[in-house]
Amino acid sequence: MDRLTKEQLISDVKENNDIVAVVSEYVNLKQRGRSFTGLCPFHSEKTPSFTVSREKQLFHCFGCGAGGDVITFIMRIENLTFGAALRFLAERAGIQLPAFQLSPTGRKHREERERLYRLNAFAAAFYQKILWQTKTGEKAVAYLEARGITRATAEKFGLGYAPPQWTALVGLFRKKGIALTEAEKAGLVCGGGDGFYDRFRDRLLFPITNPRGQIIGFGGRLLGDGQPKYLNSPETLVYQKGRSLYGLAEAREGIRRRGQVIVVEGYMDVLQAHQQGIDEVVASSGTALTPEQVRLLKRYSDRVLIAYDADAAGQAATIRGLDLLAAAGVQVRVVRLPVGEDPDSLLRKEGAAGFRRYIAESVDLFTFKLEFILAKEDVTTPAGKARAVQRVFSLLTQVKDGILRETYLKQTAAVVGVSETTIYDQWRIHLYNLRKNKQRLDIKHNQRHTNGIAPAAQQPPAVLAGEKELLLLERQLLRGCLQEKDYFARIKRTLIEVKFSDPHYDALRHQLVAGDFSGAWPPPAGAFPPETRALYLELLAENEMNPLPVDVEGCLKRLRQRQLTDEIRRLQQEVAVSLDGEAEGVSPSKLQENLALLNELHKKLREEFPTFSGLI
Ligand code: CTP
Ligand code: MN
Repeated sequence: MDRLTKEQLISDVKENNDIVAVVSEYVNLKQRGRSFTGLCPFHSEKTPSFTVSREKQLFHCFGCGAGGDVITFIMRIENLTFGAALRFLAERAGIQLPAFQLSPTGRKHREERERLYRLNAFAAAFYQKILWQTKTGEKAVAYLEARGITRATAEKFGLGYAPPQWTALVGLFRKKGIALTEAEKAGLVCGGGDGFYDRFRDRLLFPITNPRGQIIGFGGRLLGDGQPKYLNSPETLVYQKGRSLYGLAEAREGIRRRGQVIVVEGYMDVLQAHQQGIDEVVASSGTALTPEQVRLLKRYSDRVLIAYDADAAGQAATIRGLDLLAAAGVQVRVVRLPVGEDPDSLLRKEGAAGFRRYIAESVDLFTFKLEFILAKEDVTTPAGKARAVQRVFSLLTQVKDGILRETYLKQTAAVVGVSETTIYDQWRIHLYNLRKNKQRLDIKHNQRHTNGIAPAAQQPPAVLAGEKELLLLERQLLRGCLQEKDYFARIKRTLIEVKFSDPHYDALRHQLVAGDFSGAWPPPAGAFPPETRALYLELLAENEMNPLPVDVEGCLKRLRQRQLTDEIRRLQQEVAVSLDGEAEGVSPSKLQENLALLNELHKKLREEFPTFSGLI
């Protein structure tokens, strides 16, 4: 057989991977004349400047300058080398790669993953057979019927039933000569040695798939009451809870067609929704949205509606997830379901049309937060009114759009029960106080950094803005740490190594990570020396005014990204000057050193923030 040359392989791969189809798996594209446009996945933007041409089989972003062919696209979005991207696309198109094209570890991993998919598919087929074709399965069939799920829906989602015996699947694997140690790696059996037994017993099983429809794990529900109600696959090479979205493979088409995705909590919600023709629904499976799920959602749509039951929607963790979505540039709306209902129960009571009405009445994230804050204050008392208004104001300062802000102010006036004139007056006073505070801070800041010589106006504005963002991030981080001990605990280790640019903030950071605080959280102010105590109290007061949870992990990431990019920019400047020959005294070895350092930093940036491209 002829050995396939690399050039042949490349053109084969390109011919069989239409760039529009490939990009569509990551970006929500809309056709504009002869080309397709969408939000650039390589930088953060609100209006689409990312363009794909089918004719030329190229992509280009007018915003950040990223561009290339289908292989370049996969290299960047999946963070792969050229060879790995080529293999990725060959696999996608079903092109048989000559074995020499695969690296030994790449080949091992791929084989391992494929083995797990095959074992899962095998188990799913077994469970389906038990459900539909045996007497044992009858009670599960009855359960589905009682929950209003048709056979067609159950089959579309590949549902099955795990029989009550301890070794039904184990026995089958033995008979077929399938290694139980492999089945254990897939999370299907437990035990080990001679004591292997089935992980799932007497449960209705929901196969969980990746966006391509390959089964990565299972969720299993008890047919009656008992604990735990749901049991999921353990983490395996192909399944990580918090990285997948249940039903995405089935919903992809609906999401694209309707230009939005609805996120619900549970398996049953997804099934009932799809059954009733609401086919743009996926489930986060009972946890707050993770950064990985946010990235996944953003690949498929820039408009996300959250339809959680009322209890879950108001939880701090949920809101943190929604903030992540919004920060990723996704339009977020919250569907308010009646108390005590989830999409499944609501759909069964009020049907698809009823559910769509709730969807139509969804509110934007800000309005949702507004109501959340107002519900916490007793607005029938004057003091409660005042507190509520102050809390809303600290939220409102983040809203840049004047028209939106006016709408929210009116809304607040109506809910709190004060006149619009009063609200506007109060808002102006709030702004005035903010400005005064800021001036005070700026003066203090400039004194610290320039020994009081340079007035603020002489600073280049861009740098000042950048520095302010840095300060804001550092401040947010400290504030978030004080909100809940758990937030602090989650980032403490990283916080030990990160240095803040502001000496006061940095001192407080140091005292927090070095301190031994065992009592109530936040610690008493007396635990801090006079130099940082004032700042500490200021942060506590700010938390009092603005109780919404800070996304500490997100802030930390942004801070780290800023520090890296600032350092890169500074070095680039230095290198550029020495290359221009303007700086006479720069030795070649110093230049070499800088270039090596620059490379190092770029590498770090790519590793820590694979999708970041703000430096282009
Ligand atoms: N979940 C889970 N593991 C658990 C509990 C819940 O994975 N131990 C996930 C499941 O995806 C479940 C979702 O969280 O569907 C929501 O859980 P819950 O509200 O408790 O159940 P429902 O989806 O309402 O389930 P049902 O209607 O079947 O009672
Ligand atoms: Mn339910």
